[in-house]
Amino acid sequence: MFQIGSISFPDRPVFLAPMEDVSDPPFRLICKRLGADMLYTEFISSGGLAYGAEGSEMKLDIYDEERPVAIQIFGGDVEQVREATRVVNTARPDIVDINFGCPVKKVVCKDGGAGILRNIPKMQEITAAVVEASDYPVTVKTRLGWDDASIRILDVARMLEETGVQALAVHARTRSQMYKGDARWAWLRRIREEAGLSIPLIGNGDATSPERIEAMFDETGVDAVMVGRGAIGNPWIFRDTKIFRETGEVPPRPTWEERIRVVAEHLALKCEWLGERKGVLEMRRMYGGYFKGFRGASRLRSLIMEREQVDDVLELLLNFGEDDANVAVPSGTAIRATAVMARLPRPTRARKDSPLPVP
Ligand SMILES: Cc1cc2nc3c(=O)[nH]c(=O)nc-3n(C[C@H](O)[C@H](O)[C@H](O)COP(=O)(O)O)c2cc1C
Repeated sequence: MFQIGSISFPDRPVFLAPMEDVSDPPFRLICKRLGADMLYTEFISSGGLAYGAEGSEMKLDIYDEERPVAIQIFGGDVEQVREATRVVNTARPDIVDINFGCPVKKVVCKDGGAGILRNIPKMQEITAAVVEASDYPVTVKTRLGWDDASIRILDVARMLEETGVQALAVHARTRSQMYKGDARWAWLRRIREEAGLSIPLIGNGDATSPERIEAMFDETGVDAVMVGRGAIGNPWIFRDTKIFRETGEVPPRPTWEERIRVVAEHLALKCEWLGERKGVLEMRRMYGGYFKGFRGASRLRSLIMEREQVDDVLELLLNFGEDDANVAVPSGTAIRATAVMARLPRPTRARKDSPLPVP
């Protein structure tokens, strides 16, 4: 068991990684209900928060049920990041996380994300500014280094702890690797054994199944494992890991009915949060992952794409059998989204003067 600030975690906790356009409140809630021990928001631009951009502020929304939750911010301008941290305080997260790992060009070129791995003194300056401005424990997510020639993660880890960071997540790749090649778990073990950290270390990279998650714990000695791509279309990975740990067996993948139930809930939560039109459209990106490998999946996806109203999509989902490749949705099976949605929680917008959007 370990703690970040006053938050206690169970043994071998598994976290949902911050993922742009994926780790939004609806998906986080679903992962939480399926056993994720902590959730991260997608990265949020500190410039966007400092200037009050509505799109950035919306990303601060949190369901009470999903706590503990970490809000992740990125940016390479010290004063902007400081101001953004003050805005994050108003959303009352459990943790404020700094992204020093994003490899995308338009982020790194302004010293954001992994870009800062080329300027360690500035990394310290940004970290100190967030630690000073934050009302909550501050954590960092980073990579091994910029490239193979500049892996200084052991020194960086010590520097971050000295600057006041209370947990460190490391994606075991360099920026140059982007998402290619294998994550280098041996480095996670080296950080654990050689950096002399007293803060928790969170391992990340290629822990894509219950077996791999447990292997990361065993091989590296990390305190927690953070799962990214392995949860897309498969939020059951958190529950399955716990079952695997207890029984030594990975449960069979969820039945079609269970899958549909969770997809319908995900859709309804999205519509509740974003409004119907945007919710239905945004959800379209998710079906590929959820239905991968199932018979009839492509037929179902193309039928879903024809529907623009949440009721119609729900009706289709709830009436489509895995084997009914030529299903005709029976008319009159009135599945009303309002009935599903009435049971759903709403994320809180803790900030003042920001009413929830009316769906
Ligand atoms: C679609 C997508 C979006 C991502 N967005 C973020 C992000 O906003 N912040 C962040 O720190 N990492 C982000 N990442 C990186 C992941 O958090 C994680 O470090 C990476 O996917 C490796 O873990 P995995 O092998 O478990 O996927 C993203 C990854 C993916 C696939």
